Amino acid sequence: MEDLVVDLGERSYPIIIKKGLIDEINLEIEKIYKGKKIFILTDKNVDCHYGNRVKMCLINAGYEVKIMVLEPGEETKAFTTLPSIYNELLDFKLTRSDLIITLGGGVIGDLGGFVASTFLRGVDFVQMPTSLLAQVDSSVGGKVAVDLESGKNLVGSFYHPKMVLIDPNVLETLSERFFKDGMAEVIKYGCIKDKGFFNFLKNLKSKTEVMNNIEKIIYKCCFIKKCVVENDEKDTGERMLLNFGHTLGHAIETYYNFKKFTHGEAVAIGMYEISKIAENKGLTEKGASENIKKILMQYSLPYEAEIEDGSLILDTIALDKKNIDNVLKVVLLKNIGESYLEKTNVKFFN
Ligand code: GLY
Repeated sequence: MEDLVVDLGERSYPIIIKKGLIDEINLEIEKIYKGKKIFILTDKNVDCHYGNRVKMCLINAGYEVKIMVLEPGEETKAFTTLPSIYNELLDFKLTRSDLIITLGGGVIGDLGGFVASTFLRGVDFVQMPTSLLAQVDSSVGGKVAVDLESGKNLVGSFYHPKMVLIDPNVLETLSERFFKDGMAEVIKYGCIKDKGFFNFLKNLKSKTEVMNNIEKIIYKCCFIKKCVVENDEKDTGERMLLNFGHTLGHAIETYYNFKKFTHGEAVAIGMYEISKIAENKGLTEKGASENIKKILMQYSLPYEAEIEDGSLILDTIALDKKNIDNVLKVVLLKNIGESYLEKTNVKFFN
């Protein structure tokens, strides 16, 4: 499969998607890094499957490697985790000309990327995403961040990796729930940009069929994402389309205190519900929401949530950082495969 390149001038970087990459990561690293020291950041779940494999592969290729293993979960992405990582980097005497590899899902990628962007004013890093969601979304595009107590991703920057290394084989150890979580974002790409891809996903009848096509699926998502990022790196226009389903999704996640639904599940509900509302207002072609509902059911994803107090959802949307001066930009579909930004306000959801 041909490598993708995120074309951002001197900050361009390749996305390499290849089964088995995890056991030959050194061959890719050698192409972009001539130094000796490599610091790997990962979490316990990923470490038990892949930590040693990646570490030994690099050590056998002559690198000096240190691996830091964090607790899994969103709590780890806290601002307060940062000093412990910076201290490990200092102990390892990592310099600005060395390399950090983030080996994990979105939490590790975002956190490690933020560390790379700030330690010694910036160290090169490579993303090796191990969850489907990270492979198709968060590892590409340079958004790195940590959470504050008052909200997710409140401290961060745009800092691109030198390379994104995606081994679809690692998805074999991902739990069913988190595989589906990633599939919600995969379906999102079809909804916002590519009806043919949406229909292709609809025609896959089992997880085996999905896995037989997983390289193609990841490639398509990364291709769409990299095109969007190239057009709007700093997220002031087209990139916002990637937030389809996210305004409601985020409010639903918050309503349930991030306990009931995964991010992808909440986005799934958000994509269906906002399309239903937009259809009723004549802003989305009739039938689109039903089409979304069917594909979500096919992938065992939720499309609705029992919300007892809808006003709490509206309050959260009103506080959304995308709601500026009471103007809320929501992502709507004209139809499957065609999306646009609609300037509205919180009453849209009433
Ligand atoms: N995950 C949305 C973005 O990268 O803009």
